[in-house]
Amino acid sequence: QKPKPIVIANWKLNGGIDLICTSVASFIGKHFDAQIAICPPYIYMRDMLTFLQHSEISIGSQNVSKFESGAYTGETSAQMLKQAGCKLCLIGHSERRAMFGESNLSCQIKVQTALNHGLLPVLCIGENLEERDANITKAVIFRQLSEGLHNINLEGKELCIAYEPVWAIGTGLSATPAMAQEIHQFIRRELAVLLGKETAGRIRLLYGGSVNKTNARELLAQADIDGLLVGGASLDPGHFLAICQLA
Ligand code: G3H
Repeated sequence: QKPKPIVIANWKLNGGIDLICTSVASFIGKHFDAQIAICPPYIYMRDMLTFLQHSEISIGSQNVSKFESGAYTGETSAQMLKQAGCKLCLIGHSERRAMFGESNLSCQIKVQTALNHGLLPVLCIGENLEERDANITKAVIFRQLSEGLHNINLEGKELCIAYEPVWAIGTGLSATPAMAQEIHQFIRRELAVLLGKETAGRIRLLYGGSVNKTNARELLAQADIDGLLVGGASLDPGHFLAICQLA
């Protein structure tokens, strides 16, 4: 029995009041079988929450500080996100790893911080093209998992892992469902070694990388794919709604 699917929109540094209004209009009053969340830029989180308060959509953040409070200019803490009504946070997205110095160690601290404050951490992992070509995809993923989840105790807590091959992000070149399933199965096995079989079985594994309404159904049909992390296609509310309705 698969867990309830989850579909997350990552708006990245996109969107504005117009997109919020059209998204809200698309989602209000709709029922979904899957859990749906939107991660807009921080500045829009409160607006979206207000508009979406009577909908089934939750709000997530694209990042979280590893610090609790203090002299850390530009940061937003897990406690602040929680108090603002945020339900989940992405951690270690490949763009943050590549452009903002996010390491497996900082991801590990952020996962623990998010858990401590009652946020659902969505740890993002995945290999880049160079690593895939060098045939070290599984080694890269193993390291991201073992370091990113080092000493994390998930007793009574929830975690999601998003597998996003970097070469598939924003390129239109999604991994095939079979390729994605192979890696998801590997992730599930490694999670069982790291955290125990029961815990690994209840961690939802999301696929991300050029997901759209044409490939979503087949990806979600794979045994170890429990959800989707959607970038570009989530900026078109009608398109994102279609993906959510397939889940
Ligand atoms: O967080 C989302 C991913 O980076 C996927 O982006 O759907 O535009 O390929 P994409």
